[in-house]
Amino acid sequence: MLSYRHAFHAGNFADVFKHVLLVQLVRALRGKDKPFCLLDTHAGAARYDLGSAPARKNREFADGIGRLWRQPGLSSELGDYLDRVRALNPDGELRWYPGSPRIARDLLRPNDRLILAELHPTEFPLLKAEFRNDRQVAAHHTDGYAALNAFLPPPERRGLVLLDPPYELKDEFERLAEAVRRIHRRWATGIAAVWYPILDRAPSLRLQRALQESGIPAILCAELGLYPYDGPPGLHGCGMIVVNPPWKLDETLDRLLPELLRCLRVGDAGQTRLEWLAPAP
Ligand SMILES: C[S@@+](CC[C@H](N)C(=O)[O-])C[C@H]1O[C@@H](n2cnc3c(N)ncnc32)[C@H](O)[C@@H]1O
Repeated sequence: MLSYRHAFHAGNFADVFKHVLLVQLVRALRGKDKPFCLLDTHAGAARYDLGSAPARKNREFADGIGRLWRQPGLSSELGDYLDRVRALNPDGELRWYPGSPRIARDLLRPNDRLILAELHPTEFPLLKAEFRNDRQVAAHHTDGYAALNAFLPPPERRGLVLLDPPYELKDEFERLAEAVRRIHRRWATGIAAVWYPILDRAPSLRLQRALQESGIPAILCAELGLYPYDGPPGLHGCGMIVVNPPWKLDETLDRLLPELLRCLRVGDAGQTRLEWLAPAP
């Protein structure tokens, strides 16, 4: 059953965190001339209308992109991310929010490629329409985990897999651990980035332990928490696990995570975490 609709959450603090990191990952891939390939396994709709009924329901974007939109004095990295959002809002009013496919597409060079997988019958046509006639983007109406078998390793041998599932399934964390192991078997040098929510603390810690026990080297974990992890039920924070992180990503995130917390924090609560789960060889 596919009931999750990202339109309710687009531009919230978790999207800001995820997309700031995504921009950094793609920027790092652009650091070398050789073309790269990006695979977004749970792509969503590519752009979201923040004036739509779903977005207005809980106005989650107000505590995410809404906080950064007119904030002065941001670092160049947050400015780089904001430029992706500004590109969809040329008149300066925040109305549209880019999903990961739009952000990734806007950072491709002429020989780079983007492969998208999306299973939802309502989201997929929107995704397809966004990239109609774009020869650098291939959108597939398929299961994101099956896409790993179909498209990895890419002929370019350089690139990134973004795994950003909706966590509707009870065993999503276990599926992700298996997916990361599979990515590593098929494409040991590829970057894999897994976004996860922190609702209950336990499942994401279990995922981290499973990856530590997998023997896969070079795993970095970054987290942003806005609410106490033992507080009332809700999205307390989120994180991203990055396998094969680009050189110096840890140093960049060491600056960016506290900056994000300063911009997005709610009251006094909040925390960040940056940790190597497995060292680079
Ligand atoms: C969190 S949203 C993706 C947001 C998007 N990555 C972004 O950052 O803008 C998760 C998406 O996965 C889709 N989805 C759910 N199950 C899927 C599956 N098995 N394969 C591919 N997509 C799936 C949902 O329809 C939803 O659009």
